[in-house]
Amino acid sequence: MKVICKKNELKEIISEAKKTKNIALVPTMGALHKGHKSLIDRAVKENDFTIVSVFVNPTQFGPNEDYDKYPRTLEDDIKLCTLAGADVVFAPSPKEMYDDIYFEEKETTLVCPPYKYVNKLCGKSRPGHFDGVCTVVSKLFNLSKCKRAYFGKKDAQQLFIIKKMVSELDFDIEIVPVDIVREDDGLATSSRNTYLSDSDRKIAPNIYRGLNKAKELYNKGIKESQTLIDASMSYLEEFDVDYVEIVSIDDFEKIDIIDKKALMLVAAKTPDKKVRLIDNIEL
Ligand code: PAF
Repeated sequence: MKVICKKNELKEIISEAKKTKNIALVPTMGALHKGHKSLIDRAVKENDFTIVSVFVNPTQFGPNEDYDKYPRTLEDDIKLCTLAGADVVFAPSPKEMYDDIYFEEKETTLVCPPYKYVNKLCGKSRPGHFDGVCTVVSKLFNLSKCKRAYFGKKDAQQLFIIKKMVSELDFDIEIVPVDIVREDDGLATSSRNTYLSDSDRKIAPNIYRGLNKAKELYNKGIKESQTLIDASMSYLEEFDVDYVEIVSIDDFEKIDIIDKKALMLVAAKTPDKKVRLIDNIEL
């Protein structure tokens, strides 16, 4: 497996690989865990050349967010990718990825999804976040020349927006959604779980318990979103809840009565370290 930090080197390798191979991309910000591993495993199984990008993307972090302290564990990430059978880890520096104007003026050409997609859920409390995500993902698509790209279902709004971007910008790329990987107690795996204090870690699985309770009630025939949201909220009393919402899977619009495929989503900050956790469940 090759570790590449320069765009030009990546271009060289890809110009050869793409002659005979189906290229897959697994975009990550590193601090890889078993959730990422499941994305890489799937990519390796379904394609003959897998690139894992490891890049903590500055343009998707707000000024008061955790860009500086975001975990960076490149050596371990490389080991995990090697064992999983990836062909390339692409780990550029911010200066390699963005032009000087970004560092001088904090501006760059951005790919901005429509307001309708970002004025809710995570987009509401993280203004500009999805512009940064779509920008870096577009750059990675262009650099990797991938035919498939793998994204986790935990970041459900991200997945929805990226699928829209691919369709609206005519990228010739298949987006492959991969199921959420959970710890034994149900907590969704996340690089940010490393921030949790012992007491936060103990109650963090309540987020999933609340989602499961709502699903149980839904399966018993309760279709009013508010009743399900209230049931889920009762598990989150200790948290600072950002949102608990139910949206249609097709368009991510809020629904009051669940009469089509829906997704229930939660974002909440833990009481001790204020770690923002997200999770979701299909209804
Ligand atoms: O989900 C993530 O880790 C990031 O948002 C992504 C897609 C790698 C873009 O930086």
